[in-house]
Amino acid sequence: MKEQIEAIQNEALAQISAAADERTLDDARVAVLGKKGTLTLVAAGIKDVPKEDKAAVGQLLNAARTVITAALEEKQIALREIADRAALVGIDVTLPARQISVGSLHPLTLIRDEAIRILRRMGFALADGPEIEDEFHCFDALNTPADHPARNEKDTFYFDSGKLLRTHTSSVQIRTMETQTPPIRIICPGSAYRRDEIDATHLSVFSQLEGLYVGENVSLPDLKGTLEYFLRELFGTSTEVRFRPHFFPFTEPSFEIDVKLTVKGEAPKWIEIAGCGMVDPAVFEAINKSRKDNAFDPEKVTGFAFGMGLDRLAMIRWGIKDIRLLIENDARFLKQFA
Ligand code: DAH
Repeated sequence: MKEQIEAIQNEALAQISAAADERTLDDARVAVLGKKGTLTLVAAGIKDVPKEDKAAVGQLLNAARTVITAALEEKQIALREIADRAALVGIDVTLPARQISVGSLHPLTLIRDEAIRILRRMGFALADGPEIEDEFHCFDALNTPADHPARNEKDTFYFDSGKLLRTHTSSVQIRTMETQTPPIRIICPGSAYRRDEIDATHLSVFSQLEGLYVGENVSLPDLKGTLEYFLRELFGTSTEVRFRPHFFPFTEPSFEIDVKLTVKGEAPKWIEIAGCGMVDPAVFEAINKSRKDNAFDPEKVTGFAFGMGLDRLAMIRWGIKDIRLLIENDARFLKQFA
């Protein structure tokens, strides 16, 4: 029996060492250790071994199994290594990986965030309001009479319910004053909607940034100083800015602000970027009426307000010739801001 076990072990080790792939190796394993494997059959015969030899034969069997199993494992590792190396032939693992293209923030997001950062530093807090508004918050409380052209169906998107898509973020001024008391210093970036003809400087959905400052002794120089500082921070100190007298129903006096837009290869031109002014006392009165108190006593508080076109700010900041580029999502355009 001893010779038989030795012969099986030698035969198995020879087969294992000769195996050229995992399949052949597995065949060798089954042939010796499988249910009908040579060693298994011999082990089954141990019951016929005389009692006094059983222990020694058992030890021999175990030793053979251990040696064979170890040889199988070792060979399997070696074969896997060879297979792995073969799979990599022709692949240069030192080649730089193909670049994954990384997205970037949209220029409108960039300019909005920068504008917010500057204004927050000056003490303005973020405020918010709905884009689907009612006529009271969008027009009436802002001292805009029923026959004002901005309220026309040709200019404003109305719902059957009588609600509308806000034509400006100025409605957030009203929403804020309804729930807060002076001093108030807020800004609100957001979308505004108009039935405008779309061209190089107009979109029917655009972004504005509203500002409102109400308190005691808020003056026109405060307004001018705040906005001039803001524009210089945003565009640099050499930016040309001009305030033009204008009319808005909710401010008195009112101004429009123009900034020079310089597009490469073209003569610089003024474009309007904001409306602003001193809050009209009629607005405070409308608020008091709606609040049913006198928190915004026009004898005690004054305020300034402004509404900027964020798309226009982006145009000036990066010399963008056509506002439509900001909504077309052309990757060749957007990539430049990565
Ligand atoms: N709401 C005006 C517009 O969209 C802009 C504006 C003008 C906002 C004067 C203001 C302001 O807050 O005081 O054209």
